[in-house]
Amino acid sequence: MYKQTYKQIHNWYQSHGRKNLPWRSTHDPYHIYLSEVMLQQTQVKTVLERYYFPFLKKFPSLKALADAPLDDVLKMWEGLGYYNRAKNLHKTAQILVQGQPQGFAPTFPSQIDELIKLPGIGKNTAHAVATFAFNQPVPIMEANVKRILCRLKKLLTPNDKQLWELAYMLIDKVNPFDYNQAMMDIGATICTPKNPKCDLCPLSDMCKGKRAPTLYPTKKKRVVPTREENIMISLYNDRLSLIQRKGKFLHGLWGFESTEVPLCASEYIGEVTHTYTHFKLLCKIYVYYEIDKEQIDYFTTQEIRKLAISKVDEKIVKLYLDTM
Ligand code: ADE
Repeated sequence: MYKQTYKQIHNWYQSHGRKNLPWRSTHDPYHIYLSEVMLQQTQVKTVLERYYFPFLKKFPSLKALADAPLDDVLKMWEGLGYYNRAKNLHKTAQILVQGQPQGFAPTFPSQIDELIKLPGIGKNTAHAVATFAFNQPVPIMEANVKRILCRLKKLLTPNDKQLWELAYMLIDKVNPFDYNQAMMDIGATICTPKNPKCDLCPLSDMCKGKRAPTLYPTKKKRVVPTREENIMISLYNDRLSLIQRKGKFLHGLWGFESTEVPLCASEYIGEVTHTYTHFKLLCKIYVYYEIDKEQIDYFTTQEIRKLAISKVDEKIVKLYLDTM
């Protein structure tokens, strides 16, 4: 890339970049790591308005996070989805605290090959922490950046290796922090999936795909299968039965139990749906009035608010409150 283009990107970032995002005005590796993990599958607006600050208030340091019970971490993650992220965050904090010599505050390694060994830190997150916290001249590779790279070089179906090689060739080694943040913002606001604003783009001089940018990359049509479940809310004295999940799916969160066949004495109250990355979940909801208290936990809806539950279970509580 020419010096002039770096300058254009830099100038663009100074006047149009989202420079006031809180994780961009810090070099604290914990804060940056947290933001990157939250932003892996969640939009900036949601992270900013609802999750980033409350999480840091509750767990202001790696040590505070490591010492907290997992249930408390999951509670702060409630609604963000992809709960493995929260569990890995917790594990990573514990590993870093254990690995720190006595008398030193725990922190992150600065090298990508060390960062990548930590739970939940993949190639992109390791690069993001390395560049944003430690100012290393390495690129990042989130969805917006990928789209820019594909359009710049007219790539229809590039593989990861090609994209990383190209990203390493282009990175601004003098000012990697601003360059990487700018690339994400250009992708989010200019080089958008539909109707990109090429005339405003600081990379347009060197962009090979600008005549027909939306051709790159080829869009994959994904059809997600629907998984159907019957959910049984067992009621006892106006309390609802919930279990703490043990399986792989939503492990650790509290939720309603599913059943193969609804009991004949149960009442159907409606359905809720929720779309995950790989499937759509369709839940048919039944309530059943328990006569003898079973060996399970029952909660009032007030108490349920204090538990970490998934989005689907939240929708189920809402349906229950709206219909009963
Ligand atoms: N997505 C991933 N990292 C980000 C960052 N630093 N700023 C905005 N969006 C992001």
